[in-house]
Order: sequence, then C-alpha cells, then structure tokens
Amino acid sequence: MKIAVANGDGIGPEIMEAVISVFKAANLPLEYHFVDMGKWVFDKGFSNGMTPEAKATIEQLGILFKGPMETPKGKGVKSVNVTARKTWNTYANERHFQTLSGVDTVFSKAGINIDLTIVRENIEDTYGGIEHMLTQDVAIARRFISRGGSEQVIRYAFEMARKKGAKRITCGHKANIMKLTDGLFLEVFNEIAKEYTDLKADDVIVDDLCMKLVSRPDLFDVIVLTNLQGDIVSDLCAGLVGGLGFAPSSNIGDHISIFEAVHGTAPDIAGKNIANPTSLLLSGLNMLRHLGMMSKAAMIENALLYTLESGIHTGDFGDKSTPSLNTTQFTQAIIDHFGKQPKMNSRAILNDFEFAPKNTNISENPMLLGTKKEEHTIVGADIFIESALQPNAIAQIVSKHEKPNLKLLIISNRGTQVWPTGSVYTNLVDQFRLRFETEAGAGLLQSDIVELYSSLSKDLQISSVEVLSMWGGKKAYSLAQGQ
Ligand code: NAI
Repeated sequence: MKIAVANGDGIGPEIMEAVISVFKAANLPLEYHFVDMGKWVFDKGFSNGMTPEAKATIEQLGILFKGPMETPKGKGVKSVNVTARKTWNTYANERHFQTLSGVDTVFSKAGINIDLTIVRENIEDTYGGIEHMLTQDVAIARRFISRGGSEQVIRYAFEMARKKGAKRITCGHKANIMKLTDGLFLEVFNEIAKEYTDLKADDVIVDDLCMKLVSRPDLFDVIVLTNLQGDIVSDLCAGLVGGLGFAPSSNIGDHISIFEAVHGTAPDIAGKNIANPTSLLLSGLNMLRHLGMMSKAAMIENALLYTLESGIHTGDFGDKSTPSLNTTQFTQAIIDHFGKQPKMNSRAILNDFEFAPKNTNISENPMLLGTKKEEHTIVGADIFIESALQPNAIAQIVSKHEKPNLKLLIISNRGTQVWPTGSVYTNLVDQFRLRFETEAGAGLLQSDIVELYSSLSKDLQISSVEVLSMWGGKKAYSLAQGQ
C-alpha cells in the first residue's frame, strides 16, 4: 500500500519520523512517498503550498499522511491545510476522543471513561465563506446544507460507527430554529438510520448536547454534526480528554483522505526533539484502520496506551515530578511495549479487511447526476432593501408597485415581522425584507419577479432577492417570525 507523506513544518519532521519508526517496527505493509508541502514550499513561490509533483502524487495514491503546516502570514495566502481539505473534497472530518491513562483530566480522576468519535461535515455550512454587506451596517453569510453533502457525511458516520463497534450514533443539530438547513441534515440522518437497525440512532439539539457532553460524556459513542457546530463541539471534546495534543483527526473523501494531528507546528519547541508524537500517531492509527489494517492498529494503540499508563511521558503532559522523555525515547518506549495490554481501554483486535479505494476514473460528478427533481413552482420573492424609513412608510411606497399576482404579505426586520402588524419596541436596522407571495400558491414566472424588481428599484434601494419556491407542493422557505 503506497501512501503520500508530508512532514510539515516546525515539529512536523520530528513527530513524523517518530510515527514512521513505530510503523516500520510493526512491519506495516506501507510504502512511504514523501511529498513537498508546507511553509518552505510557499517560500519557494508555490502559492498553494504544494509542488505540482506533490499534488500529482497525492491524487494518484489517494492517501495523505501529514504533519502540521504553517500558513505564512499576510493577505492572499490560503492555509495549505484548508486548501487540501477543500480541493480534494474530504467531506468528513473524524476526530476520536478517548480517556488516556497518564493524561489526567477531571473525568479520568472521577473514573468516567470517555470514548467518543465526532464526525463533522467538512465542506458546507458557513465555511463556503460567501458573505456580503447588505447595507453599510448589515452583514449576511450564506449557510449551505445540501442533501448530497449531508448524505455523504452521515453515511460515512454510520459505516464508521459500525466498524468501530459503536452502539449509539447521535445527530447534533439546531433544527428547532433552523428548520430548513439543520432540518434537512436531520431528515437525511433519520432516513439513513433506517438502514442501520443495529445502531441506536437518536438526535440532540446542539446546546443540550454541549451540556450533556460536559456532564456525562461517557453516554455518547459517535456524534455527527454540521460543519460549524462540529468544529466547536470537537474542540469541546478535546478539552474533555486533555487538550488538542491527544486528539487525532482524519479528513475523509471518496478519492483522497488526509490524516493529520490537530495541533500546530509548535515553533517554540521545534528542532529540540521534545515534541509529543501521540496525536500524529493516533491519526496514523486512524489511517491504518481506514486502510483495513485493524489488528496492527490495535496492537500499536495498546502499546501506546500501556506506555501512557506506565506514567511515561514527554514534557508537555503527565506527572511533572517524574522525568520526561524526549521524542526519540518516548517513541522507543512505545515500540518496546508492542504486545502489551493496557489495563484500561484495551483495544480489541478486530479483523483486517481489504481496502477498496473508490473508482478514481470519473468524468462527470456523480453527486450532481444523482439529483432528483419534484415539480417546482415559484410562488413569490423576498426582496431585501436598504431603508431608514419606518415600516408603514415603506409599505406605502411598495403599494404603488404591487402586481395583481404578487402582493406584499409582510415586512420583516432581522427576521421579525414589523408590518402589517408588529411592535414599536422591535429595534430596527436599515435593512428590511419585503415578502411578496402569489395567492393560494399560484405559479409565477421568473420574469414576474424581474418586473417587480425593476418597478421597486425606481423608489427603493434593493440589496438582494430570494425566489420563494415550492417543490412537490411543499413550501421551500421559512416563515417569518410572527407570520
Ligand atoms: P500549536 O499547536 O503549534 O502550539 C500551541 C502550544 O502547544 C505550544 O506551546 C506548543 O509548544 C504546544 N504543542 C503543540 N503541539 C505539541 C506537541 N506535539 N508536543 C508538545 N507540545 C506541543 O499552535 P499555534 O502556536 O497556534 O500555531 C503554530 C503554527 O501552526 C501556526 O502557523 C498555525 O497556522 C499552524 N497550525 C497548523 C495546523 C495544521 O497543520 N493542521 C493546525 C493548527 C495550527
């Protein structure tokens, strides 16, 4: 099995060398192809932080094992880490959090054992970075949640839960407020759950989830979340088990997957041979499991857990009254403990399986081809305007431009209805939404909306327009508060 390896910057080369020496000692059937990525590649003039040869090798091999990389400061330079995740569509970010003996936390001291995996959607949500100022004082961000994108990550989470031997899988969401975006994610979760009857599938609202995680983290097994919520909840979970240094990360795609430590390049300790390789090693173990090398991954993890349990530690954690080992010594201790079983959280030796990479020879994007369509009707438009007028004054202006088939239904401000009824106590910003709908869901043409836009623009400053649609007779837009 050939894999691409990028050492990274700062402590990257030291911890990568440590992990590969563990893999070599375990006689893993891996062939390492080192590629050029990171700060020094930016410095050579490659604006995406990787050489064309590195890109070609990674795309050919499909697996990238990488150390942390520094993003050069300054405008116009994008993080190579983020570029890699986006370019290769690694749609699932998987992070495993477990109690490690020798890494004291309030939970380990209380005898509460944590062993949970967060799967975070890695592409969509607000991370598309599509933001606009609607007025000089009002900013808006687009939040994308798609059926195809949700299906990919949720199905991955269910498959992974099964492989992990998990009993429970939970969807974290905020569908009580964001009924269409989080609502779609939850709907897809519930649909896919029907295919996995061996797993207990449930859902928890994300704020409640945070409260439950900090009080009873041991009750959770696998949790799947949208991008931003997953980002926050995964760092919360890192805190539960002793910090980012112990939290491995996998970025899974259909064709290319990336395995990396969560921490950065630690420039303050780079080159001193004192860095802790645990996070990168745990990420490497995720990679072995992804490749089907289940038994060797469990053997190495048991050796690592035994080492930590024995009180052996690098300088950044553990009992400060006992001497710390350097990176090389710590790595050797893990190798010396091959075959040992830790008392706590011993990993079961599961059966290996043959890694079957997805067909990389695609000419059309399969996600786009799979789109199913129900009957589409346009039933109105939300027209966003900039105005410092009071709602009644705006309604009076609008009345001159209403069409027989497109009537002003409501005006809202920051989502709250302010016309035809509202409260004088609702604070207003200079950005209003005018909602126009047809009567009884009669269909409109796109040109009807263009005509309305054109007419309104004579008297009002329009910032943006959203078409109101129905698919299969169902409203495909949220109601305004108070509507
Ligand atoms: P950092 O994680 O590099 O360092 C924070 C603190 O943790 C430092 O005191 C460091 O010495 C310590 N630390 C981190 N990893 C350690 C390890 N394995 N063993 C012992 N101690 C460790 O975070 P910082 O300083 O915010 O970022 C430094 C650079 O890393 C930045 O250029 C940033 O862009 C990059 N970075 C890269 C990431 C990646 O490649 N995925 C992720 C996060 C940051």
